[in-house]
Amino acid sequence: MKYIKSLAIMIVCLLMSVSCCGQKIKLETSQNKKQSVMNKGKVLIVFFSHAGENYSVGNIKVGNTKLVADEIQKFTGGDEFEIVAEKSYDMPYNELIKLAKEETQRDEKPAFKGEVKDIAQYDTVFIGGPVWWGTYPQVMFTFFDKYDLNDKTIIPFTTHEGSGLASCVEDLKTAYPKAKVLNGFAVYGHEVRRNMNKVDNWLKGLGY
Ligand SMILES: Cc1cc2nc3c(=O)[nH]c(=O)nc-3n(C[C@H](O)[C@H](O)[C@H](O)COP(=O)(O)O)c2cc1C
Repeated sequence: MKYIKSLAIMIVCLLMSVSCCGQKIKLETSQNKKQSVMNKGKVLIVFFSHAGENYSVGNIKVGNTKLVADEIQKFTGGDEFEIVAEKSYDMPYNELIKLAKEETQRDEKPAFKGEVKDIAQYDTVFIGGPVWWGTYPQVMFTFFDKYDLNDKTIIPFTTHEGSGLASCVEDLKTAYPKAKVLNGFAVYGHEVRRNMNKVDNWLKGLGY
């Protein structure tokens, strides 16, 4: 019964994205439009990504967003910081979407492992994650609470299965009202497993 309920919620969520398709395509085109970073400086790539059972791609060893983060690293030569939650998200997909929904509704801030050494050294910070229930996973918000990036250029990106950037850019602007937050880039998770063409074009458009 629980499984059917979770599945139904996810289907409704995806149908909603499909019904807004026309608008979304327009939105994504403008969201992904080329925006050059003038003074790039030193780059940090902060991301969360979930390996394991996932929507549309089956059981994966490396998460979709990590593939994009690694591509950004190749282009920019920046440092990577992967946000890894202290708690485990290693569970079947239908359980994970239920847990993630509860975390979002309760505005939970799960702890994460490790730390960024000397955040002050970075000028540009790419921030990326999967869309979970309309925004970044809650553990990323724990990171936003911990690190002040208000003096930096922030470049948001997401991988998703229909929601595009969802509210990720707005949420970053709320977390860092004084930062220069660029438009952001969204790409389907299943697509980056086939090729990186869109990611490469976006990065070239940014001047990398
Ligand atoms: C818990 C959970 C919630 C999700 N919610 C959404 C959503 O609201 N909108 C969407 O387009 N995709 C959603 N997805 C799909 C992921 O955003 C997509 O598969 C993404 O590429 C996963 O990236 P990752 O492999 O780096 O974790 C969700 C996936 C999970 C596991």
